[in-house]
Amino acid sequence: MGKNKVVYVCQNCGYTTGRWLGKCPECGGWNTFTEEVDIYTPTVKRKGALNFLTSSGKPIPISQAKEIEYIRFSSGIKVLDNALGGGLVKGQVALIAGQPGIGKSTLLLQLAYKLSHQGKKVLYVSGEESVDQIYLRAKRLGALNDNLLVYSETVLEKIEETVEDISPDVLILDSVQTVFSTELESSAGSVSQVREVSYRLTELSKRKEITTFIVGHVTKEGQIAGPKVLEHIVDTVLQFEGERGSFYRILKVLKNRFGPSGEMAVFKMTTFGLEEVPEPSAFFISERNADRAGTVIFPHTEGNKPVLLEVQALVLPSVYTNPQRRSEGFDPNRLAILLAILEKEAGIFLRDKDVFVNIVGGIEVDEPGIDAAVAVAIVSSFKDIPLPPNVAVFGEMGLTGEIRNVYFAEARIKEAKRFGFKRILAPKSVALELREPGVEGYRHITELLEALDLT
Ligand code: TYD
Ligand code: MG
Repeated sequence: MGKNKVVYVCQNCGYTTGRWLGKCPECGGWNTFTEEVDIYTPTVKRKGALNFLTSSGKPIPISQAKEIEYIRFSSGIKVLDNALGGGLVKGQVALIAGQPGIGKSTLLLQLAYKLSHQGKKVLYVSGEESVDQIYLRAKRLGALNDNLLVYSETVLEKIEETVEDISPDVLILDSVQTVFSTELESSAGSVSQVREVSYRLTELSKRKEITTFIVGHVTKEGQIAGPKVLEHIVDTVLQFEGERGSFYRILKVLKNRFGPSGEMAVFKMTTFGLEEVPEPSAFFISERNADRAGTVIFPHTEGNKPVLLEVQALVLPSVYTNPQRRSEGFDPNRLAILLAILEKEAGIFLRDKDVFVNIVGGIEVDEPGIDAAVAVAIVSSFKDIPLPPNVAVFGEMGLTGEIRNVYFAEARIKEAKRFGFKRILAPKSVALELREPGVEGYRHITELLEALDLT
């Protein structure tokens, strides 16, 4: 015990145990445990838990609590301001997570420039690139400004000192995995280090009212310490995603203490950095072959601003004994369930068929409202019958084939109508509630397929 107590920490979610485990009981990851020195050893002094909440220290009637006015300011990037609920907040700490190469550094350097251009003092700390490398990138992006200070450093204590010294309005740390505290024995990028670095920088940002962005890399394998351990420390979690080979980049707001979550901002990667896409629906559906079988429009949303997406399916006879099922942007397990429901409830037998599903634009959809659209696209491809023009579809599909209500139905309908979709096929309950022209309600997948002449 004491100084060198060893624990095993899941590098994906931060679950800690006294012995090595093959599978993480918390997140289900395999082979994610590595040996680390316990961060709660006496060598690390921590004065109680992180506490940013100001209170009188005793319970009060809720009616006597005051409304807090956050001091907001524009990020200089309009789509980002919108997604964040009206700009950045003084003292806000945001994690920006994404796979390497997706464009996190590019976005933050552009953001740093825009903020410095507005007169904010910005400190961009990079543990990944030298100052000269950052300069080259900034030059290419047209992001040179005297208010933008760049600093290449990986030792947390030095970064803290510099921040105390300079007192920037905005701090950017790229990335949390490269920075380490000399007070801990584990290496940079380990869960203990990631936790410690984000903890201490959050504390510092709150105290000095600095708006801070922390970059966190994630890999599909979860080998690098997953930003999951940071999620509850920071105020805002932004996830940057996009397909390799696609220009589109989607920044999703997964958590936000200062605004709604579920919003998104869409960008396009160009040779001069990221460009805002103010009308993402128009972009996502612009290359659609509407007269072909296997494509359908789906109004997607996890917040108040829906986007229209093209859902594609390709169904063809399998040459293998085990037919292939692949999906991009849609959960493959969910796909297997939808195929089972189609077989049982609608008599669509696809066991000897390969089935491919793709959500165009590189967006990952994990809300249930997409079920009906995926099912319709699959049947359309299978039967080789294109959908009537101007049709959009949404609704969750239950295990008995029922089409279930989903969140934000009105917003979805509005967006579909805005882009000229005249027939919106929705859950029955939605149609009954809204009684709006153009909105057709269906209770069951078979009714939906009939309405589209797919039976
Ligand atoms: P980057 O911001 O370095 O990714 P991350 O920080 O998430 O690892 O982005 C890297 C990719 O972006 C790289 O493949 C090159 C591309 N890129 C452009 O296409 N245009 C640009 O102006 C810049 C700076 C990068
Ligand atoms: Mg980077």
